[in-house]
Amino acid sequence: MANNFIFNNYKKQDISGEITCSAPSNIALVKYWGKEDVQIPKNTSISFTLNNCKTITKLSFSKKESSEEFEFDVFLEGEKKDDFKPKIETFFKRVKEYVPFVSDYKFVIDTSNTFPHSSGIASSASGMATLSLCLMNLERKLNHSISETYFTNKTSFLSRLGSGSACRSLEGPLVIWGEHENISDSSNLYGVSFKRKLHVNFKNYQDTILLIDKGEKQVSSTVGHGLMHNHPFAKERFSQANQNIDLISDVLENGDLDKFVEIVESEALTLHAMMMTSMPYFILMKPNTLEVINKVWNFRKENNSKLCFTLDAGANVHLLYPSNEKTEVLDFIKKELSVYCQNNEFIVDELGMGGQTL
Ligand code: DP6
Repeated sequence: MANNFIFNNYKKQDISGEITCSAPSNIALVKYWGKEDVQIPKNTSISFTLNNCKTITKLSFSKKESSEEFEFDVFLEGEKKDDFKPKIETFFKRVKEYVPFVSDYKFVIDTSNTFPHSSGIASSASGMATLSLCLMNLERKLNHSISETYFTNKTSFLSRLGSGSACRSLEGPLVIWGEHENISDSSNLYGVSFKRKLHVNFKNYQDTILLIDKGEKQVSSTVGHGLMHNHPFAKERFSQANQNIDLISDVLENGDLDKFVEIVESEALTLHAMMMTSMPYFILMKPNTLEVINKVWNFRKENNSKLCFTLDAGANVHLLYPSNEKTEVLDFIKKELSVYCQNNEFIVDELGMGGQTL
């Protein structure tokens, strides 16, 4: 119940200080696409937590000076970013019921990403997760008695209200979000870590992100989610995703990499198929996305490899592969795939463990 996350008996305190946290990006294996108000997913999703692609945020808090509901400034890599403010203001409005202190302090949010800005990598997941983690550290300063579980669940809960996929960035190496009949602790309100034993095949699993298109997306995720209302295939899609959660949960435990490839690639293409069959319809893949997909399929066949791709809501390609194929796959990427990337750029990452207080 969301009510469990209300900060009861909150009393304003005259303190100031700073809190620094980091949280990574994540890549969904079974995709979240379609939601109800407020940020309730239409199906369960599961993601790999990344290790290197992170946001680092310093939240400074001090005595409020203005009479506005929220008083804050945002900086990205030291540069003032007023265009980030509306999204954060919406976030503060949504979370105020649960963390009432957001309107009692003046905040300076100093943020930076370890991945290149405007690389087309969504920074909203890592950004909202990191900011939520900072807020929960402040809650802990104001109320020492909160438990570790409450802290983790509520951080994910707040993150979800910032951006749905952000709630999967607090823990690792795999996080499930959305109620599922076969996962007893699953919830629509926050992400939970995958509790089954992860097969050794997935140890240090690799994700190399090919930066095919670094530009702004023409259609935001929020708009895309909205188009799943009245979508002709929505019902089937949501039930397919929930079935894929069962299938992939088994695979993560039994290590069947062929089945893993099949589920992950099918999920990526289904996500984009939903976009192409929305009304209005749209395409976020670029010609180079397709070039890469075909090259990956050929490479897999010729080398008996387990390399596969997945996609976010954009043109960039995430290449997933076991760590024992790292040398060959990176060689293949450098020689044959980097030409399809803007400025030949790609980012090497792997499974990670989630948010941290620094
Ligand atoms: C395609 O979490 O960015 O990456 O909740 O509106 O902020 P909002 O959307 P967002 O959607 C991400 C969609 C996706 C799939 C996924 O990460 O599961």
